[in-house]
Amino acid sequence: MSTVEINAEVNAKLDHVRAELAREVTGKGDVCLTCSFQAEDVLLTKLAIALDPKIPILFLDTGYHFKETYEYRDRIASEWELNLINLLPEKTVAEQEAEFGLLYQSAPDRCCGLRKVEPLFKAVANYRVWLTGLRREQARSRAALEESAMFSLPGGKQVLKLAPLVEWTTRDVWYACEQLAIPLLPLYERGYTSIGCEPCTSLPLDPNDPRSGRWAGHKVECGIHIQAAPAR
Ligand code: ADX
Ligand code: SF4
Repeated sequence: MSTVEINAEVNAKLDHVRAELAREVTGKGDVCLTCSFQAEDVLLTKLAIALDPKIPILFLDTGYHFKETYEYRDRIASEWELNLINLLPEKTVAEQEAEFGLLYQSAPDRCCGLRKVEPLFKAVANYRVWLTGLRREQARSRAALEESAMFSLPGGKQVLKLAPLVEWTTRDVWYACEQLAIPLLPLYERGYTSIGCEPCTSLPLDPNDPRSGRWAGHKVECGIHIQAAPAR
């Protein structure tokens, strides 16, 4: 594919996302965006703040992120004047480790439950719409992802969960970030292709699977994108 063709394709995709965001974000309120500060989330953040500079940007601050992620989050939040909301788990890392040891080794599902799923679901319940940077190409577990779907939170509340980048490829994301002069998390330069908490993120183990460095291949999802069972 030529550069001209890639340019046209990515621009068409950008137009689609901007239109979707304009429909859901502009003047409506009650919309949040969850941002891990990976490339697709930062791209979506940039597009969303163009419509609503004060849209709540939710970051799950597990306490286990890379130093580089925290530095980059602070830099982008300051330069773009984000309405950043850091979501904290009930226990600090020190408290959790004193009580349960290294859960990310012994029981990663429980650790993700305490440090990601619980704080996120609690926060998202305050909104009508939840924007994410999820893409089908990221993982087999995401291959059938819908761009728009109702998501049931524990307790029964439903939020409209949107993934405007659902059809985007990694190439599209990188191309658009370059076009829009968006600086990226420096960990990409060191070869990381999917970046979460430091103890559970390594360089990809399979060069054809960008998420193969997450949880060393032991699990593929942390639980925040799995549909909760409907409340009875
Ligand atoms: S994860 O479930 O494996 O961690 P991934 O890193 O692919 O997910 O990110 C997918 C989406 O989950 C992001 O687009 C974002 O909406 C949300 N997300 C993941 N990690 C965080 C985080 N630390 N803070 C806020 N949102 C996050
Ligand atoms: Fe814990 Fe790892 Fe999940 Fe982070 S990704 S919450 S460190 S198990």
